Amino acid sequence: MGLTKQYLRYAASAVFGVIGSQKANIAFVTIQGGEKGRFVAVAACEHVFIWDTRKAEKVLILKGNKHEVTCLCPSPDGVHVAVGYEDGVVRIFSLVSGESSVSFNGHKSAVTVIRYDALGAGLVTGSRDTDVIVWDVINECGLYRLKGHKDAITQALFIKDKNLLLTCSKDSFVKWWDLDTQHCFKTIVGHRSEVWGMALLNQESRLITGSADSELRAWDISYLQEVHGKEAGEPKEKKGKSLLGEEGDEEDEEGLDESPVERILSCNKAGSLLREARDRVVSMTTDAEARILACHGTEAVLEVFSVLPEDEVERVMAKKLKKAKKKARDAQAAGEDVQDPVVERKLANEIVRLTNIKASAKIRWVDCIMCAGGELKIAMLLQNNTVETYSLKTWNKNPTGTKTSRLTLGGHRTDARTLAFSSDNIGILSASGETVKVWNRSTLQVIRTMECEYALCSLFVPGDRQIILGTKSGKLQIFDLASGTLLQTVDAHSGALWSLCLSPDQRGIVTGAADKTVKTWEFELIKDGETAQKRLTVKHLRTLQLEEDVLCVKYSPDQRLLAVSLLDCTVKVFYTDTLKFFLSLYGHKLPVLCLDISHDSALIATGSADRNVKIWGLDFGDCHRSMFAHDDSVMFLQFVPKTHLFFTAGKDKKIKQWDADKFEHIQTLEGHHREVWCLAISPNGDHIVSSSHDKSLRLWERTREPIILEEEREMEREAEFEESLAKGDEPVVSVPGENKETEAAPAAKKTIETVKAAERIMEALELYRSESRKMEEHQIACESAGKQLPPPKADPILMAFGNVSASRYVLDVIKKVRSSELEVSLLVLPFPYIPDLLSLFNLYVQDGLEVELVCRCLFFLLRIHFGQISSNQMLLTIIDELRTNTISQVRGIRDVLGFNSAGLQFLQRELESKEDVMFFADATGQLEQKRRKRKKKERAVLTIT
Ligand SMILES: *[C@@H]1O[C@H](CO)[C@@H](O)[C@H](O)[C@H]1NC(C)=O
Ligand SMILES: *[C@@H]1O[C@H](CO)[C@@H](O)[C@H](O)[C@H]1NC(C)=O
Ligand SMILES: *[C@@H]1O[C@H](CO)[C@@H](O)[C@H](O)[C@H]1NC(C)=O
Repeated sequence: MGLTKQYLRYAASAVFGVIGSQKANIAFVTIQGGEKGRFVAVAACEHVFIWDTRKAEKVLILKGNKHEVTCLCPSPDGVHVAVGYEDGVVRIFSLVSGESSVSFNGHKSAVTVIRYDALGAGLVTGSRDTDVIVWDVINECGLYRLKGHKDAITQALFIKDKNLLLTCSKDSFVKWWDLDTQHCFKTIVGHRSEVWGMALLNQESRLITGSADSELRAWDISYLQEVHGKEAGEPKEKKGKSLLGEEGDEEDEEGLDESPVERILSCNKAGSLLREARDRVVSMTTDAEARILACHGTEAVLEVFSVLPEDEVERVMAKKLKKAKKKARDAQAAGEDVQDPVVERKLANEIVRLTNIKASAKIRWVDCIMCAGGELKIAMLLQNNTVETYSLKTWNKNPTGTKTSRLTLGGHRTDARTLAFSSDNIGILSASGETVKVWNRSTLQVIRTMECEYALCSLFVPGDRQIILGTKSGKLQIFDLASGTLLQTVDAHSGALWSLCLSPDQRGIVTGAADKTVKTWEFELIKDGETAQKRLTVKHLRTLQLEEDVLCVKYSPDQRLLAVSLLDCTVKVFYTDTLKFFLSLYGHKLPVLCLDISHDSALIATGSADRNVKIWGLDFGDCHRSMFAHDDSVMFLQFVPKTHLFFTAGKDKKIKQWDADKFEHIQTLEGHHREVWCLAISPNGDHIVSSSHDKSLRLWERTREPIILEEEREMEREAEFEESLAKGDEPVVSVPGENKETEAAPAAKKTIETVKAAERIMEALELYRSESRKMEEHQIACESAGKQLPPPKADPILMAFGNVSASRYVLDVIKKVRSSELEVSLLVLPFPYIPDLLSLFNLYVQDGLEVELVCRCLFFLLRIHFGQISSNQMLLTIIDELRTNTISQVRGIRDVLGFNSAGLQFLQRELESKEDVMFFADATGQLEQKRRKRKKKERAVLTIT
């Protein structure tokens, strides 16, 4: 025996087959130079795919890791996309580079909504954990966490220019938040069930909410502050009333006799709009100007409404009034007694139904944008892994949606239940409920797509020119790959054909089905009647009748034996030549769903719904070992060619590698987000492809990296620990002095990164301390020796960073902490380090180093350690110095900022004035053209007459 066996690691190499995952919304995005309405962003498991709908091509992948995408939102300037994940993290990606530079860590569970403010500087996120968090995108930090809802947040909207926020939730409430004071000043009740969506119309003066019934409720909002301010002729600040002029303000308040709620706005029900669908609203959206409102339920119909502008409504109303008056006059003339006609303005006059658009499957999410000339572009993510785009010419009287594109090629509509590799390791077959596809493994492009019946098992016929599928209805379907046609459908069984296997001599196949039979078949070439060309078919040879449904069949590679798994939880082995019974494998408590025999026909491994894998000797049928393999049914099992290693796929989303000689678990391949149905290993063992209920097909690649089992286990334990740390305890972030019970709380949460960052800062401070001590000792030594001694050697770490000073090193470490994690990292820092940090900050500020960053840290530390710092005599001088230094430095920065900002404004004005001239030139050009055209027409008229 040699040394310990070496295993090679398999690593994830690609995700394909998924066009759009259901969990996250779809959004139009702009890619540099691309036209509006051409590109859409959709989630694809843990990634975001940007599709070019015109070419049906993937143009960009925003790579995530591990957790599924649950929400996405492009920034107003179109340069970034904010992506929320299942674990509560939010990352901001650049659409130019496809990279993510910022990540926000604050939610404890899936992010359900993300919205930018109008400028793109603020971001609000809502989560299933019921919290709403507002983030500062520029400073990359959390501003505040708003607590109050009791269930998952379904939508959040900023109110432009007012620093107000509107949120709705599955808890049936809509809440108004004042972001200046971070409290909820108004809650709209009136929904009896979940509020699933909302939209703001008419310059944010009307709110539409969608709930579990077919009624869309409309609410009129009036911002009282403005009205009051205008009336009184004094622009009054609603902000900071607690800070400035409290008494006067309060008096004012009492004098007005208004509750504080009504001081900001009033929001009253204005009516309702009825949808045709009777189920709940699934999603609701408007275009950027809120001229169109689109919403849908769980079905395939999108309802599109048009929000008429005020002047149009007035025109219509005037017309109606005229009509009514005329009628009244007529009636009067006829001698009837009539009152003055009144035409009541209703919601239906303001929001009118434009059209319904029926998609080809149930709609999951929708987005729409208005393009030039009033053309509305609509993108829908459907429930069957499809994206469709429609165009609506809104200026038409009765517009109808026309389908403009459809993304279907790159994936199956339903789960792929079977996979196979071609003998040259290049072709991958995947077959689902309606299509079979053959992919090129190196490019992951679809080579062929052919319609088929519901497929359960498949293989490439030797030579790779044809493929055979076994279907749920018991048929064998033979396809020709060169022509992409179905050659023949054979009625093979009268029940689901669960399994088929190529005979090792490559001359035929064996099939097993739910009709309790196993049949063997031989390949045959027959002359095709019409074309006189030879075509492949299968000829039935023998039938083996059994007592139970057959779930799985397999030849031993030496073709001596045939293993058959039955519904009664046993596996029976027969002699291939005589079909006589050889032995039975008892032991599983639930049926064996998958089995495979090793290349030397020595071992048989079985995987069962009882979650175990058993390894048996094929010579005596003795069970070598039973291993608990997955947390749910073992769905698929296959040996790596020419080895005793095998892979299993489980309903627990995992794929695992095992050693059948040493009974060891080698590696777990994680990545799928739902049940894994099957996998296929390439004949050379270098690639694995797997298929899952998450609609993704994943390719895994054998690397050159060896696996050391102990290390692998250690890593797994560590990962588990980190996960528990991230999940388990409540965030420690609670600033002393701030009430824990308040609606507002700090935004960020403790993660493994923040703990590590705090550790790095502590290490740096320790190093600084020891260096300072060294210098002091050196000083003393110099003095006692009365002469200059050679200075002590600097710490190797400092040398490694380019001979920096220890104080500079601390600053560098702080600078490297991610901005979004800075506060929480400082919070974790124990107090004994704070005095050193403060004196260092003083040094930095004096030297003008990173003043903004230092101030941010300083103010945060002062706030959270206020008591301890203020009661510490030793810190008095430092704090005093800090006070003078920071003020002068910050003032300096402010002056620079003011100067720059003035400069930029000047430039902007310059540019604008130039553009004005251009516009003017343009306009005159157009006028000229028009005049010329008119002249032409006139001339034409003249010549005709
Ligand atoms: C699913 O998507 C396809 C688009 O290729 C469509 O033709 C089909 O009707 C859809 N609907 C269902 C329910 O499968
Ligand atoms: C698959 O793609 C590679 C790389 O583009 C190409 O060389 C190869 O011919 C393709 N194979 C098939 C079967 O299309
Ligand atoms: C490191 O820098 C100090 C002064 O900053 C200098 O005296 C010393 O010679 C430098 N050491 C090396 C190895 O460059």
